[in-house]
Amino acid sequence: MVSRTIPVDTFDLVLFGATGDLATRKILPSLYRRFVAGQMPEDARIIGAARSELSDDGFRDEVRGAIDEFVSKDKHDASMIDAFCGQCSYIPIDAKGEGGWKELKASVRDDVVKAFYFSVGPSLFGPLAEKLRGHGIACDNSRLVVEKPFGTDQDTARKLNDDLAASFAETQIYRIDHFLGKETVQNLMAVRFANVLFEPLWNERYIDHVQITVAETVGVGGRGSYYDKSGAMRDMVQNHLMQLLCLTAMEPPNRYDADMLRDEKLKVIRALDPVDPRDVVRGQYKAGADPSYAEDAENPASKTESFVAMKVNISNWRWKHVPFYLRTGKRMSRRLSEIVIQFKETSHSIFDRDDASKANALTIRLQPDEGMDLSVTIKEPGPGGMRLVNVPLDMTFADALGPDGEEIPDAYERLIMDVMRGNQTLFMRGDEVEAAWAWTDPIIDGWEARGDKPASYSQGSSGPEEALALMHRDGRRWRDLED
Ligand code: BG6
Repeated sequence: MVSRTIPVDTFDLVLFGATGDLATRKILPSLYRRFVAGQMPEDARIIGAARSELSDDGFRDEVRGAIDEFVSKDKHDASMIDAFCGQCSYIPIDAKGEGGWKELKASVRDDVVKAFYFSVGPSLFGPLAEKLRGHGIACDNSRLVVEKPFGTDQDTARKLNDDLAASFAETQIYRIDHFLGKETVQNLMAVRFANVLFEPLWNERYIDHVQITVAETVGVGGRGSYYDKSGAMRDMVQNHLMQLLCLTAMEPPNRYDADMLRDEKLKVIRALDPVDPRDVVRGQYKAGADPSYAEDAENPASKTESFVAMKVNISNWRWKHVPFYLRTGKRMSRRLSEIVIQFKETSHSIFDRDDASKANALTIRLQPDEGMDLSVTIKEPGPGGMRLVNVPLDMTFADALGPDGEEIPDAYERLIMDVMRGNQTLFMRGDEVEAAWAWTDPIIDGWEARGDKPASYSQGSSGPEEALALMHRDGRRWRDLED
């Protein structure tokens, strides 16, 4: 297969928080992979900026460490690593004081794409934006990348939006939700809007319900102090699951255009019904092979949820009476993220219904094994008469692309290159984030007002029993995580 990697225009990327966890695990390794793929121009530069007093060489050692640990060994080519490190430099910076800003101004070029990546806590967004403007480092066509969490509720998100808007226009701001950079998530739009097959069926007439699962096997150890103030609702549902729901439920935009697409997502969020407290289940993992959530969070009395399952209704013509069931949790039995579109049964069967005949389901797998399958009922091959059997039409992207296919890039690779290309389609707009908080806030406020405690669940399970009951009550069941 011919590589379709097109180099982006040259750039200066200033990475604030360059020695932090996200920069080390995701951002620097992703940039290196794009460099190896030939997409990063030879004169593009990455300028690390953080509090630590590091020299350029000290930072390059950190970059090497990040590549060593987080990039697969087949891409460890010494001359490539040297060349990449040669494009990296470092400036110690005092986010709230004066240290480092003059040096930064002197080192950033004005005639290339300038991007500033805030891989730092949200309390620094406003001060950093102000410094960049105040020192004349950022200009009207610079780009600003910010990471989640984008606020902890609607008020704090609005404040962050206002702080950023004081120095940057909305068209310059790239709010990352890395789920939008996942290959299958983009494919969801291709499947819906580039095929005649699905869109006519994509409504309450043919769809019974939708399930969105993001299950993880990891716990919160190591980031307990952040997570305990956040919980699964703020950490996963308000952003990642909400984005998946929006892309599944939205109307077709007129064009694949950043604002048109985001307008459609916003309409979905605004059409979400308030959630009945009986339709939400919270869980917290108990001690098992690994420590309990409370031990990981170092808070024995913690009421924070590491699991949420909920039923969501969308009040519009397309989705009336089609519930969307969402669930996400840590320390579950398997790492699995998928969207299942469960179709209705045929209105009348000419065959004797037997157990093997099931309604169609389209499963969109985000991870692992990116791909999708459509379950269809066929006649069991052979002479045994008209016996029905349910089989998946499976398309695993890696297989479909073949052995010479390009490797599926990490979400961050795609998103960072989109920033350099000036393409905001896969980034969240300020009003979208605020609307998502406006919907989640009452749910969280309700838990806090009632002092609700999450149900406990075993590690390696599919969450608390109550989550199963949430579906059973409606005569439905979650897809088995082990299937
Ligand atoms: C992050 C959450 O945004 O997404 C984490 O803060 C979560 O808690 C992670 O583990 C999941 O991302 P991925 O790409 O590993 O599925």
